[in-house]
Amino acid sequence: MTTQTPARPQLINLHPPSADMLRLVRDGLEREPRQLPAWLLYDAEGSRLFDQICQQPEYSLTRTEIALLESAAEDIARSIGSGVIVEFGAGSARKVGPLLEAMRPSAYVALDISAEHLQQATASLQIQHPSVPMLGICCDHSRLDALPDHPLMRGKRRVGFFPGSSLGNFTRDEAIELLGRFRLLLNGGPLLLGLDQPKASSRLEAAYNDAAGISAAFARNLLERLNNDLKADFNPAEFRYEAVWQSRESRVRMALISECDQTVSIADEPWAFRTGQPLVTEYSVKYSPEMARKLAEDAGWNWCRRWHDPDDDLSLHWLEAAD
Ligand SMILES: C[S@@+](CC[C@H](N)C(=O)[O-])C[C@H]1O[C@@H](n2cnc3c(N)ncnc32)[C@H](O)[C@@H]1O
Repeated sequence: MTTQTPARPQLINLHPPSADMLRLVRDGLEREPRQLPAWLLYDAEGSRLFDQICQQPEYSLTRTEIALLESAAEDIARSIGSGVIVEFGAGSARKVGPLLEAMRPSAYVALDISAEHLQQATASLQIQHPSVPMLGICCDHSRLDALPDHPLMRGKRRVGFFPGSSLGNFTRDEAIELLGRFRLLLNGGPLLLGLDQPKASSRLEAAYNDAAGISAAFARNLLERLNNDLKADFNPAEFRYEAVWQSRESRVRMALISECDQTVSIADEPWAFRTGQPLVTEYSVKYSPEMARKLAEDAGWNWCRRWHDPDDDLSLHWLEAAD
């Protein structure tokens, strides 16, 4: 008997065009402090570097969340029920495995901004779970008004999954808007939301500035990406990377700091950077259980329950759409 390799899952590509990217970069450079949307960090190289960050000893979030999912998946499935699992910002899709086993969903749909990486992620997940039909959608989920009409989702209950504390990249107002958007995209279905919690600043700053320099390379790759995709001429060596815990905002701020007065060209437009001027590459807001509950309720969700790891470092929150 021969065993058949499952077909590669389909990929629907809705990546924003470069004209949109240029507009977002201009808007971001006009902010004070300068800040670019976090999704720009994730081209193919950025996604590869992020996977390396997840393996660094200082970055425990991925290992902790996977262990929590492995131990709690059966309980989560019993509580939340099943349907089509829709994962937002799936990355390498290494966390959903226990949910696929426990929920036995009718399909798995992975959304991510990084097309090539997403294609590889769904292809290797499909080999591990050949009986679950899969689909990839490359998109900016913060701008999506509806999921594409597709037979795998038609008439099916949707179960949202948003792990990795990716919601922390957004300010509170943006996070409320995003959670409201997910409520519509999920058509009344529940959301399992993974959020990292505040902890000692030394731990958090080390997690986002690992000794091997992978977090720094990940941030500097954003400049390489702008060079490649938007005809910019950044010299990444002229920017220093830093990750600082800002306790008042309950967030880590990651930024590239200009090492000198310099003028950079982006799509033939000059942008001056002063010595010491930061370009924020991303924030990572940390949510206590109380903050998470309030945020969810403000975004139109009913907070039902949370699961957490033994050290209570992070939580998986179960949310149901409020009527
Ligand atoms: C912090 S990583 C988390 C990856 C994975 N979910 C995990 O938990 O390890 C964020 C992921 O979300 C994707 N992403 C970031 N912003 C996005 C956006 N606006 N729309 C869609 N995907 C996005 C990135 O490409 C990346 O794979």
